Amino acid sequence: TGKFTYDPGFLSTASCQSTITYIDGDKGELLYRGYPIEQLATQCDFLDTCYLLLYGELPNEQKQKDFHKLVSEHTMVHEQMQFFLRGFRRDAHPMAVLTGLVGALSAFYHDSTDINNPTHRNIAAIRLIAKMPTLVAMAYKYGEGQPYVYPRNKLSYAGNFMRMMFATPCEDYEPNEVLVRAMDRIFILHADHEQNASTSTVRLCGSSGTNPFAAIAAGVACLWGPAHGGANEAALNMLEDIQRNGGIEKIGEFIKQVKDKNSSVKLMGFGHRVYKNYDPRAKLMRETCYEVLGALGLENDPLFKLAMALEKIALEDEYFVARKLYPNVDFYSGIVQRAIGIPVSLFTAIFALARTVGWIAQLNEMIGDPEYKIGRPRQLFVGSERRDVPPLHQR
Ligand code: CMC
Repeated sequence: TGKFTYDPGFLSTASCQSTITYIDGDKGELLYRGYPIEQLATQCDFLDTCYLLLYGELPNEQKQKDFHKLVSEHTMVHEQMQFFLRGFRRDAHPMAVLTGLVGALSAFYHDSTDINNPTHRNIAAIRLIAKMPTLVAMAYKYGEGQPYVYPRNKLSYAGNFMRMMFATPCEDYEPNEVLVRAMDRIFILHADHEQNASTSTVRLCGSSGTNPFAAIAAGVACLWGPAHGGANEAALNMLEDIQRNGGIEKIGEFIKQVKDKNSSVKLMGFGHRVYKNYDPRAKLMRETCYEVLGALGLENDPLFKLAMALEKIALEDEYFVARKLYPNVDFYSGIVQRAIGIPVSLFTAIFALARTVGWIAQLNEMIGDPEYKIGRPRQLFVGSERRDVPPLHQR
């Protein structure tokens, strides 16, 4: 048993070599393929970012056009998916539905099933990036009991998603440019984040040679948890809870609870395993938050005011300062999405939509590595020594 290093939570174990995303947690720096997130978020759109993550370089004008066209040709999903969706209860959590829908893609697209074949992997990548917005919007419409809205491919990636979410057969939806830009920024900021729990899950799952859609479904399942992708939903639920129970006046009491060693209450949207200074995505999302609330005339939104007050108190409090706990991207992305009109239960599904490209880029990198092997962590066994099964009457 002494042969293996024991490292719970992988605090000091590198699981792979990677060229995709670089994070300097102390400096609060995030780079995709060497480009700072601040530049990508202000000078590129999400599909440029997808191209960069997948192929290693930003597209030139021609490649950008070709990539946009290719993705737009794959936005529809097989009509049979509607019947699959119909098997779910309408009140199912969108992440439960999405885990199923993404896994089910492997049953529909048989020309992209071989994870070891680069052509298959590339077709699967384009299909997943193109179809995720359609699937997320379908899951939403299904839950609402509304008819699905088909993709309109002349719109931008984010604009098309918002139309599929908010248009109805009776009323079309003219996306507001500020909101489309905000949605696109949410996608860019969530596109990849090196070896987080869901990405490591996708790598481990894919390392067995499974179907690429199945590997991504495993990522969706992992992302669902409140310590990972579910944090934006948890953060907004927390704000709504405080608001219902007295609002700004009650923040002090809430913070007291968070600090209590015997309580399990956490300040959701705060803290990060890697960022111990600040989360650069949070800074960009905070900017977007102001822009969106301004565009919608919601500057005095009580929940936003509450969030700002909570942030101020937490940033000055000794407990949070000593533990280097700062707001993460999810603290603000929930407020932005809520203002756009996205229901809280869909927040994590939108995170999954955006992270899909990162999962695929990481999967491609792993499989392209000549040293790649099936992932097989070892353990330190601390259970019983060898013993004999006693007869039933002696147990
Ligand atoms: N509120 C209150 N206390 C906290 C929080 C928080 N949000 N986060 C950490 N702590 C405390 C924790 O109790 C511990 O205290 P002590 O040393 O007294 O035992 C100390 O800070 C260190 O925390 P940790 O749990 O060892 O840190 P970690 O690196 O294992 O956890 C985390 C990171 C993100 C899971 C955690 O900070 C957390 O649960 N935050 C809330 C959920 C959240 O916002 N998650 C989204 C992360 S960003 C999106 C993504 O990349 O997925």
